[in-house]
Amino acid sequence: MGIVVANWKMNGSVFLAERFVHRLNEIDSVSRVVVCPPAALLGKFEKFKHFIGAQNCFYEESGAFTGESSPKLLKELGCDYVLLGHSERRALFHESDEMIYKKWSAAVGQSLRPVICIGERLEERGDWKDVICHQLKNYIGHCDLDDTIFAYEPIWSIGTGVIPSESELGAVVSFIKEKMPGSELLYGGSVNGRNAGEIMRINGIDGVLVGGASLQIDEFENIVGMVAQQSY
Ligand code: PGA
Repeated sequence: MGIVVANWKMNGSVFLAERFVHRLNEIDSVSRVVVCPPAALLGKFEKFKHFIGAQNCFYEESGAFTGESSPKLLKELGCDYVLLGHSERRALFHESDEMIYKKWSAAVGQSLRPVICIGERLEERGDWKDVICHQLKNYIGHCDLDDTIFAYEPIWSIGTGVIPSESELGAVVSFIKEKMPGSELLYGGSVNGRNAGEIMRINGIDGVLVGGASLQIDEFENIVGMVAQQSY
């Protein structure tokens, strides 16, 4: 079963959330659909028949951490998934691999399925193996990875319309799969209704993480359809 994760980032509205719930509740997809809206909109997905996820969480259960949400609260709100270590969190909010690992551990402790985002910057393109090894170092050989998903998102591909070639992506995917044999792997970066099929055909890719195109309901439904087709 292919996985389609929508990362709305800090976009969307109450209106859009209601529209998505209504439209997506009408489809019986063979793909696993996960929508990650801004935390403030999670409550609007109460009647959603697919999955919802948060875009981030903190690693403590409660306390004086203004502005943060705990995995426990996210679970109570109906989340089954949480994105962790998105490149925007790493770059803009200075999240380190150590902090992401602590969040991972707290999320797993509440039975949330973490989607850990990894990937190299444009200037690191020649060194992608080192970058990825570094980002994966806390998880390699870990015994508690059954529910953890990794998302390879080359930063130079996010929001740019440029995606890696089939052979580039194939090489990265087999490298990650070798290190993380039991975990599902998504590709993210400029995924849309036109390229989702070819991306899903790459051996080892279990699904896609979609940013910009996940805010347009028709485009998103196209992607869900393409992923479902390739999952047979
Ligand atoms: P994009 O974003 O699909 O708009 O490139 C992907 C992401 O940042 O997760």
